[in-house]
Amino acid sequence: IKKIGVLTSGGDAPGMNAAIRAVVREGLHNGLEVYGIYDGYAGLHANNIKKLERDSVSDVINHGGTFLGSARFPEFKEESVRREAIKNLNEHGIDALVVIGGDGSYMGASKLTEMGYPCIGIPGTIDNDIPGTTYTIGFDTALTTVVEAVDRLRDTSASHKRISIVEIMGRYCGDLTLGAAVAGGMEFVAVPEMEYSDEALINEIQAGITKGKTHMLVAVCEHMTNISSLAKKVEEVTGRETRATVLGHVQRGGAPTPQDRIIATRMGSYAVKLLLQGEGGRCVGLMNSQMVHHDIIDCINNMKRPFSDELWDLSFSMF
Ligand code: F6P
Repeated sequence: IKKIGVLTSGGDAPGMNAAIRAVVREGLHNGLEVYGIYDGYAGLHANNIKKLERDSVSDVINHGGTFLGSARFPEFKEESVRREAIKNLNEHGIDALVVIGGDGSYMGASKLTEMGYPCIGIPGTIDNDIPGTTYTIGFDTALTTVVEAVDRLRDTSASHKRISIVEIMGRYCGDLTLGAAVAGGMEFVAVPEMEYSDEALINEIQAGITKGKTHMLVAVCEHMTNISSLAKKVEEVTGRETRATVLGHVQRGGAPTPQDRIIATRMGSYAVKLLLQGEGGRCVGLMNSQMVHHDIIDCINNMKRPFSDELWDLSFSMF
């Protein structure tokens, strides 16, 4: 191969810039030309493609977001749209594509691969919901951001003897919520991997009050319940002032942690090395501290993410 492309797709994640930088620098180091595709699959379809040089990725390693831009582009599910995308890649003479993103991005990459165009997926999402890797790029930074917010909420909850319910991102994966609950010493946690009802949670909060707790922090993964209504119900049942905080998109921004920069750099470099070895249709991951790769189609369709029962148990025993 002589020319490769790189794009970021789906929700941005801190560390994506570091991954793009690694793809560009490893590519150039090995004599390849590297092309940046702007605004994810939407930009690929719109032929928004520019050649990147060494200095195109200067001073980006420490920045959150993605300088290539990102987009959600459901139209990419259409085969005709993907055909046009492949036509654009062929016009530029780009032989293979590195896709940095979450599960939707992997789906796009696997579909292109099925159509004969080689892609390599790099897991970039704050949700940590991609199979085949222990960590996704952005998770560590988002976790740091969430725990910082939780620490602040603890100060004010303790001062006012209030219950604080915090909604945390993660889509349908509880890793960010569970990690924040353990690291933030939160009293209760609700994640999609485990059974949940408002009533059961309220009973637990009531038990906490009986135990003598004056204030409590509750971590709830998004899409599980409406935390404003839940806060009202908690107040009604317990008689304790309760506040709801949706952390929202602040969780997605900010400078990547050193850990995220390191895994992004390792994964970006590894993806290029795989392409140089003639591997396509793969996705990269970090497992047992080592870089690994899997069949991207198998990863999407068959591999499962493990849920940490150990952390789940800790969230109870530390109560
Ligand atoms: O996948 C990352 C993520 O931030 C999820 O945690 C969240 O559910 C979703 O993206 C939000 O998407 P959007 O930025 O399109 O509103």
